[in-house]
Amino acid sequence: MSAIPQPVVTKLTRAAIFLVITLNPEPEHHETVRALCSDLAGLLRAVGFRDLEGRLSCVMGFGSEAWDRLFGQPRPKNLHPFQEIQGQHHAVSTPGDILLHIRATRMDLCFELATHIMSRLGNAVATADEVHGFSYYDDRDLIGFVDGTENPVDQAAINAAIIGNEDPLFSGGSYVIVQKYLHDLKGWNAVPVEQQEKIVGRTKLADIELDDAAKPSYAHNALTTIVENGEQLEIVRDNMPFGDVGKGEFGTYFIGYARSPRRIEQMLHNMFVGRPPGNYDRLLDYSKSVTGTLFFVPSATFLENVANG
Ligand code: HEM
Repeated sequence: MSAIPQPVVTKLTRAAIFLVITLNPEPEHHETVRALCSDLAGLLRAVGFRDLEGRLSCVMGFGSEAWDRLFGQPRPKNLHPFQEIQGQHHAVSTPGDILLHIRATRMDLCFELATHIMSRLGNAVATADEVHGFSYYDDRDLIGFVDGTENPVDQAAINAAIIGNEDPLFSGGSYVIVQKYLHDLKGWNAVPVEQQEKIVGRTKLADIELDDAAKPSYAHNALTTIVENGEQLEIVRDNMPFGDVGKGEFGTYFIGYARSPRRIEQMLHNMFVGRPPGNYDRLLDYSKSVTGTLFFVPSATFLENVANG
């Protein structure tokens, strides 16, 4: 029987919690995490059953070093730490052993599940970063553009994000890169809308893709389009706005899933270094990446069987 994926591919939701945590070194803590892997589906059923229309879901991913400590061999073929990029802008690489990506139509469901998970993990882990994301008007990000339009859906999303026969021991798995971006909204809002549209590659109000003749080669959607052997290599994104008005913090939490991390890394290279080098993504003049981590998301079948070795 083929492995069942975790809920990497879901309908977009209105709320999400992104928890990046580090695993404390003592070996007894590894058992705590392994026990949670097998119990996660049960916790999810318990909280999610309170409101089935809330579509509560949780994806759990593991960083490269954490994989070795928790599960050893065999390991997913393409799992490695996130490589920082020093280009026109800097994509930082930051610590993170476990990712929990919790989504629902209501924040209270996400919050309740996160609370149960973290209380199970107790002192086995420390939190590196926690972001509570919300969906904004018309699924816009805080720079005012609709975000997610060209995401693949249904079978195309599965083809983009879920590992097949290329790594048979880990089929049903996925790779995910997360990056937390903080926007300079004052600077961005001073850019004329027509120029903002060139930077993103779509119109702002109606969210229509610019014609090839009008779209610069540095447009965000040009630099993140990767074609290899006539085939477009897609990823599945579920970015969320977040912020803290009092602190003047306005952000986008980028999350991208793919069956191979290489295609996401290629997109990042195009954005931060440029394609060709120097022709970089101008969104980055107004958006600073303050975290960056890569995780492997094993199949749900793998997680359930962790306790049985
Ligand atoms: C500040 C962070 C980011 C913001 C605000 C942002 C925003 C957007 C917006 C507004 C679009 C156009 C609508 C859509 O198709 O979704 C888009 C498209 C896209 N973005 Fe981003 N993005 C960010 C970071 C990234 C990163 C880091 C990657 C990849 C590593 C990425 C990959 C893509 C892709 C693949 C598309 C679709 C391109 C197409 O096929 O047209 N984005 N993004």
